[in-house]
Amino acid sequence: MSRGDQGAAGPDGRFITFEGGEGAGKSTQVALLADRLAALGIAVVRTREPGGSPGAEAIRGLIVTGAVDRWDARTEALLVAAARRDHVERTIRPALARGAWVLCDRFFDSTMAYQGRAGGVDPAAVEWLRAFATDGLTPDLTIILDLPVELGMARAAARAGGHQRFERREPAFHHRLRAAFQEIAATEPGRCRLLDATLAIEPLADAVFRVVADRLHPRPA
Ligand code: TMP
Repeated sequence: MSRGDQGAAGPDGRFITFEGGEGAGKSTQVALLADRLAALGIAVVRTREPGGSPGAEAIRGLIVTGAVDRWDARTEALLVAAARRDHVERTIRPALARGAWVLCDRFFDSTMAYQGRAGGVDPAAVEWLRAFATDGLTPDLTIILDLPVELGMARAAARAGGHQRFERREPAFHHRLRAAFQEIAATEPGRCRLLDATLAIEPLADAVFRVVADRLHPRPA
C-alpha cells in the first residue's frame, strides 16, 4: 500500500481515484463502484476534484467556468492545489481515518495531465505542488479510463451541464491529455490501471470491480 507518509488512514480505509479525459464516464463508474462496495457493507465516501469540501467546491466554480483563457495553466495549477489541500485535510483524511473507502473522481494525476503535460507547466513544479497539497497522501489504486479523443469530446458535448472551460480546448490539447494519462498508467503500474472506456457501462463497471477486487480485496463487513 502506498498511502503516503502521514499514516492518516485507519486499518480498513482505502483511497481509490478515477482519472481520464473529458467524457470518459468517470462519474458513472464511481457511482457504480460505490454501490457495489456499499452492497458489501463497506462505508463509502464519494467525492471529486476540484471540489469535495465546501471551500474546494467554491474554488471549483472559479476553475471550471468562464472563458477558456480566464486563467493560465500556472494559475490553474495553484487553484487546483489550493482546492486539493482543503479537500485532503477536511474530507479525505478524516474519512480514511474512520475506515471508509474514499472514491474520488479525479485527483493529482489530473493536474499532471491538464496543467503539466497538456498545459505546459513544468512537471517538477506540478510534483512539488502535489507534495505541498497532499503531504504525501497517495491513492491505493487509480483507475484511468481511456478512450479516443473524438468519442470523449462527443460524449462530453452531449451531457447536460457541458460547455465547461476545458471541454472547449482545442483537439490537440485533448490528444496531449490522453497521451499523458497513458504515460502515467505505464509509469506507475503498481498504483494505476488503464481500462478501455469504449466498453458499455455495465461491462466497464465489471472490469473496474475486478481490478478493485484483485488489488484491494474488499470483504463483506
Ligand atoms: P470533471 O469535468 O471531471 O468534473 O472535472 C472538472 C474539470 O477540472 C475537468 O475539465 C478537468 C479539470 N481539472 C484540472 O484541470 N486539473 C485538476 O487537477 C483537476 C482535478 C481537474
